[in-house]
Amino acid sequence: MSSRLSDEHISRAFRRAVATTGLIHADDTAILFYDLSFLEQRVRDLQSLFPPNTLHAIAIKANPLAKVLERVCQWGAGAEAASLPEIHLALNAGFPPKKIVFDSPVKTRAEIEFALNLGIHINADSLEELDRIAAALNGAKPKGTVGVRINPQVGTGKILSTSVAGDYSKFGVPIHAYRQELIERFLRFDWLSGVHIHIGSQGCEPALLLRGIERMVEFVDQTHHAFNQRGIPRRIQLIDIGGGLPASYARDARPMDMRTYQKEIAHRFPQLFSGDIRLITEFGRYIHANAGWLASRVEYVKRDPGIHTAAIHVGADMFLRECYHPDDWPHEVTVLDHAGNAKAGLDENPYMIAGPLCFAGDLLAREIRLSKVQPGDYIIIHDAGAYTLSMWSRYNSRQTPKVIGYYQDGERFEVLKERESIQDILDFWA
Ligand SMILES: Cc1ncc(COP(=O)(O)O)c(C=O)c1O
Repeated sequence: MSSRLSDEHISRAFRRAVATTGLIHADDTAILFYDLSFLEQRVRDLQSLFPPNTLHAIAIKANPLAKVLERVCQWGAGAEAASLPEIHLALNAGFPPKKIVFDSPVKTRAEIEFALNLGIHINADSLEELDRIAAALNGAKPKGTVGVRINPQVGTGKILSTSVAGDYSKFGVPIHAYRQELIERFLRFDWLSGVHIHIGSQGCEPALLLRGIERMVEFVDQTHHAFNQRGIPRRIQLIDIGGGLPASYARDARPMDMRTYQKEIAHRFPQLFSGDIRLITEFGRYIHANAGWLASRVEYVKRDPGIHTAAIHVGADMFLRECYHPDDWPHEVTVLDHAGNAKAGLDENPYMIAGPLCFAGDLLAREIRLSKVQPGDYIIIHDAGAYTLSMWSRYNSRQTPKVIGYYQDGERFEVLKERESIQDILDFWA
């Protein structure tokens, strides 16, 4: 399977969307598209690579659209929830509690009790949280399972703000200082059966992710050794390797694919594939990013000497990281005409792609070369399927765009979410 959707594919799907009566309205100034066939293939590939009892808890934060979650659930995957509302999104989409992994870094007592009562798998983020879970259980056995997140302290990747396994991290229990205390908790809490890591999102080389797994496996061996020494016949049963496999955001970028990553894991840690333990994965970006692309109508083109500015209908409201840290989060940007056809040639001047928000940094691309852009054309932001709509900002109170899913190059379309209405905005601020 290719790592990204090609320009030709996007042009073909967009041409078909524009030609479909009643699908796109005049006020749909921007539309987020999802290739659901591509998305399904990503999930199915993941499932085929790992042992059948693996729980693939796809990170909801990457793409919380209810209709997409319903599909992900129907395809047999699970859901990773980073908050109580994300648990509710998962339950509403049909995920059974035992396929939900609750990873919020700040769980209240009430949230812990809610998850325990339903039998949702909880990963405690700290020793303190683990003790709260113990208090909530009060001697009873949990209906579901419980793990603890360790920070394997293997270092940071290229993007500091999404790297979470440095010496200091606000997540997890740092392994160097707390190894012994962690082992003691495993000895004391006979319901504690899982270990969890997550190294970072994008920008972390697979070698760093693998080093994290190595530290976790080392810790599991040490805990088993402690069990053996005390004659305790228990084993750690759940190993949660988190997410973090980078997605490709550029036509010449070829990050490691899931198949190669799985092979590396299986080669270096065959014990994880022996059937004795159950694996959990929490991929988000790799699953969703390349399945989505955004099309925004160009409203104006300002032609200043030496530089042109194409003003479009999304900016930092949907592409928060991209506008604030453009060097870390570049997207490919291309242009189609009003009917979806690729435009030929290159304009002599470079373009700024400007969003609609009231601040100077609301630029989605800076000084890029494009064909001559006209009002009414569409700017395509590629690989927009993960951490985009889910990071929507309310600044300037713009409406979230319509979301359209499609199958097989646009043979069939389905509205996944309507554009937000003015009433929705009034309700938000009421
Ligand atoms: C605990 C946890 N698991 C999984 C993920 C998903 O990471 P990615 O989307 O990079 O696969 C994240 C993302 O931040 C996370 O914090």
